[in-house]
Amino acid sequence: MDIRSRFNPDQLDPMETASIDELRAHQLERLQWTVRHAYNNVPMYKQRFDALGLHPDDIKTLDNIAKLPFTTKSDLRDNYPYGMFATPMNQVVRLHASSGTTGKPTVVGYTQNDIDNWANIVARSIRAAGGRKGDVLHNAYGYGLFTGGLGAHYGAERLGCTVIPMSGGQTEKQVRLIKDFQPDIIMVTPSYMLNLLDEMEKLGIDPLGLKLRLGIFGAEPWTHELRRSVEERAGIRAMDIYGLSEIMGPGVAMECAESQDGPTVWEDHFYPEIVDPNTGEVLPDGEMGELVFTSLSKEALPMLRYRTRDLTRLLPGTARRMRRIDKITGRSDDMMIIRGVNVFPTQIEEEVIKVNHFSENYEIHLYRKGNMDGMDVHVELRPDCAGFDEQKINDAINQLRHHVKSSVGISVNVKLREIGSIARSEGKAKHVYDERISV
Ligand code: DLL
Repeated sequence: MDIRSRFNPDQLDPMETASIDELRAHQLERLQWTVRHAYNNVPMYKQRFDALGLHPDDIKTLDNIAKLPFTTKSDLRDNYPYGMFATPMNQVVRLHASSGTTGKPTVVGYTQNDIDNWANIVARSIRAAGGRKGDVLHNAYGYGLFTGGLGAHYGAERLGCTVIPMSGGQTEKQVRLIKDFQPDIIMVTPSYMLNLLDEMEKLGIDPLGLKLRLGIFGAEPWTHELRRSVEERAGIRAMDIYGLSEIMGPGVAMECAESQDGPTVWEDHFYPEIVDPNTGEVLPDGEMGELVFTSLSKEALPMLRYRTRDLTRLLPGTARRMRRIDKITGRSDDMMIIRGVNVFPTQIEEEVIKVNHFSENYEIHLYRKGNMDGMDVHVELRPDCAGFDEQKINDAINQLRHHVKSSVGISVNVKLREIGSIARSEGKAKHVYDERISV
């Protein structure tokens, strides 16, 4: 099958309905192409293969993928900016970069075919989420070096939507435009959606009176609890879109409207594995571990077994035959160890939202007293609970402490902040503030 097959907005792509045998045969062919392409054009891969005594011809089955070396974020940094590109620069029509908190950004590149494929895959994703040709789509993912804005934009145009290229920020203006332009779909990070909903409330705009019916949320971990809360407040369906710049950008996996049960990995373009984060050993489907991707169609930046650091598991296909990923628990870098217990921010989010009187906004502050690490969870009351008396507030605080203790296994202090004082997100939310002094 031609990997550059045209996108038809009115019917599923042939690979979305292919049998498992067809899919696996296609993957093997694409894997062999990718491995040869990487070996022949990226010096780092050639050196690694040669050191392992491995040759592209050794990849005879899909399982042989386990022979390939892993690629990590530091490989991209070490080859900054263009050292891992497999095509000459005059064929690279777009660059994106992830900011990274420290040091050099990670730079990714795309040929015209890569951009075309990406648009097709995002168009497929929006359609899988329930979007249709003719829908008006408000795109509040950041435009620029971040892949979210342009990635969503090209895909939405490819599907035949009317795109409002809003980007992140200018929250009050966003909300006014949403009211005036009446989009059917919004694409935004879940945390910025909360900010937009708060702003609507502030401006006296009832989200339930808007035309919006679908939200396509991703770029950061978010919980089922947050999904339920946003769906209720906004009167929409909230669907999970997953992706990362190193592998393409948004649209590596997308939740399907029929089942709303975790993102389907578009396996005709991205081969997923789950490995033990410590040993790198491949784990069977269903087991939790680190998600690893091999690109199957990328020309400018082929990626062999890229370690995403995202923790999840592979689940069998439902709405499509391709496998799904479970909600991402978090990144291995986000894991906090509090008195010997591993904790992810999403676990705290779940418990905060379960206490009905608190808003979905929270901060986690880590501190050290003597040799002991501790956690403060900062929360706010929901605006409709603003008049609560001390007794009711204490009950809510105790409820949260109790829930965290029983489900996460740690004791935390809960600090009630004034409504609106917890920092609101305009893109990816920052939840954790580490105030431990390193010794
Ligand atoms: O965040 C791409 C994207 C844009 C995805 C818009 C979805 C929507 P990066 O900036 O490279 O790319 O960050 C990738 O974000 O490894 C995950 O840790 C996290 N992430 C992305 N989508 C999800 C999701 C974009 N649906 C990193 N659930 C990934 C949980 C997500 N985490």
